[in-house]
Amino acid sequence: MLRYFTAGESHGEALVAFLSGVPAGLKIDQAFLERELWRRQQGYGRGGRMKIERDTAHIVSGVRHGATIGSPIALEIENRDWKNWQDALPVGEGDSSMHKAVASPRPGHADLAGALKYNFPEARYVLERASARESAARVAIGAIAKLLLRELGIEVLSHVVATGSVTLSESVPWKKIRNLYDRDEVVLNCTDPDVEQHMKEEVDKVLKSGDSLGGVFEVAAYRVPPGLGTYAQWDERLDAMLAAAVMSLQAVKAVEIGAGVASAYAPGSTVHDEIGYNATSGFTGFSRAHNHAGGIEGGVSNGEEIRVRGYLKPISTLRRPLQSVDFATREPVKAAYERSDVCVVPAAGVAAEAMVALTLARCALEKFGGDSMVETLRNFQGYCQQLKRF
Ligand SMILES: Cc1cc2nc3c(=O)[nH]c(=O)nc-3n(C[C@H](O)[C@H](O)[C@H](O)COP(=O)(O)O)c2cc1C
Repeated sequence: MLRYFTAGESHGEALVAFLSGVPAGLKIDQAFLERELWRRQQGYGRGGRMKIERDTAHIVSGVRHGATIGSPIALEIENRDWKNWQDALPVGEGDSSMHKAVASPRPGHADLAGALKYNFPEARYVLERASARESAARVAIGAIAKLLLRELGIEVLSHVVATGSVTLSESVPWKKIRNLYDRDEVVLNCTDPDVEQHMKEEVDKVLKSGDSLGGVFEVAAYRVPPGLGTYAQWDERLDAMLAAAVMSLQAVKAVEIGAGVASAYAPGSTVHDEIGYNATSGFTGFSRAHNHAGGIEGGVSNGEEIRVRGYLKPISTLRRPLQSVDFATREPVKAAYERSDVCVVPAAGVAAEAMVALTLARCALEKFGGDSMVETLRNFQGYCQQLKRF
């Protein structure tokens, strides 16, 4: 079973990720991992930190001579900012006068709930782990999941559908999303240049006013075979697993599969994807006129592209801070300010790609098994032949 954990704090020495259950013999393309980490750091509206850090994943176990060996993979991403924080956040006792307290909880962050839960007098340690810096670790192991999926012919990418109130209204074919990947500059990762320009202007507005923005990204998974996930148990449904995986990302407040939200307001005749047959189409020859279901019916992938949207609330840290209360005095004060992004929709999309890839890789390994890639691929190809003969 594919399992993973992350550890590490925003201003600690490093982020760490642990991934076990990857079959032996998967080639690890280090440059691909670096590019994925780079993609997470891009986007118009990011803060100063992205300028000091260029993330790299240092693999310490589970990979030898460029390929996995079946043992757990552990990797580390150095926090380059650590040198500025080692006196404020020492692992040893250190000098408590160097501590940088977050004295007033920031609305929209874990600050207050976390301080109450862990019995901290202020929110520094809460912020350190609740921060989306952690998502870099997920992107690194998500890249390994993507490499595994690539062996099965599956690709996972994202694009931005909305930045604040500026929205792309058309549905976007895979090819256009794929083209975004090759751009040298991510900007807002939107497939329509005019809409992207409006999105940029929206970001400029909030940059000027000290406010922040949320938005919507869409993750697409291309060439996913039918049969991943199952309706047999509630927690094995692919839609449920994807929803949990994407919702687990910082600032994601709603997840939608396919046209899930609009479907709730429309009659069934316009929503359900009628079935046709064309012997040369896809894995089976069964085809659909539309993909409102987002590639999943009954908790099972149906052979169409998987489409998952994530809805992000606006960034919580505001340069023009909201009202809060001082932890020590309980007096009203402005919320603490810490260097911050104002818009992260493209980056959140990249982190969501990682979560979708990890989920699909887990489901694929559950279905096809295999301790080596040779075995996994043999089982996968056998299943594809079975689908062709169906
Ligand atoms: C890639 C990414 C980067 C983020 N950067 C920031 C940031 O710089 N400042 C901030 O206030 N929130 C940022 N957030 C959002 C917060 O981490 C998140 O809103 C906060 O931890 C509270 O968690 P919740 O929104 O899930 O409740 C970011 C989120 C993502 C996905």
